[in-house]
Amino acid sequence: MTAVQEAQSNREDRYSRLERLLFRLEAQHQCLNWAFREIKDRPGVVFELGLGHGRTYDHLRRHLPEREIFVFDREVDCFPDCTPDADHLMLGKFSDTLPQARARFAGQAILVNSDAGTYDDGYNREVAALVSASLPDLLAPGAIVLSDLPLNLPQARRLPLPATVRSEQFFIYQSP
Ligand SMILES: C[S@@+](CC[C@H](N)C(=O)[O-])C[C@H]1O[C@@H](n2cnc3c(N)ncnc32)[C@H](O)[C@@H]1O
Repeated sequence: MTAVQEAQSNREDRYSRLERLLFRLEAQHQCLNWAFREIKDRPGVVFELGLGHGRTYDHLRRHLPEREIFVFDREVDCFPDCTPDADHLMLGKFSDTLPQARARFAGQAILVNSDAGTYDDGYNREVAALVSASLPDLLAPGAIVLSDLPLNLPQARRLPLPATVRSEQFFIYQSP
């Protein structure tokens, strides 16, 4: 284990799984609200990577009623009232839908919320690599990327989390 991993694991051990979930959701909520202010007055579409039960999608559409929001998932397993319409639902594996999106939305995404993590570290590395490879072509100048997994976006800057966020397992990037 590297020194960084050890420090992280010691920190995580201080908190129960319940607290870590609470902090993660709190981070997501606060970072989304911060991002809404950041992208105000800047054109572009929004990507939600991971519809899940539709909770963050519901938050996005309530706060960004004028934006087109495209939602990616391999399945529809959300609250019925959180189902995106067919034109905005990119149904399929990210490995298929993200390359298709690169052709259609090059340089147009002003906000991406990537919420695709699981409890499986190996899978998380795989999905993070897939998302990292696809995003550079999709991002508009100055786009904000929020992610529950660390991404490899060499051209983007990693931004600090808002001071009130208690989780360190949440990531913000901004494209140049
Ligand atoms: C943590 S859940 C998303 C939670 C959701 N944002 C919410 O607030 O309810 C992750 C979602 O990502 C989807 N997902 C994970 N890996 C995927 C892949 N490779 N391709 C497509 N969808 C994937 C899963 O099907 C799952 O619905």
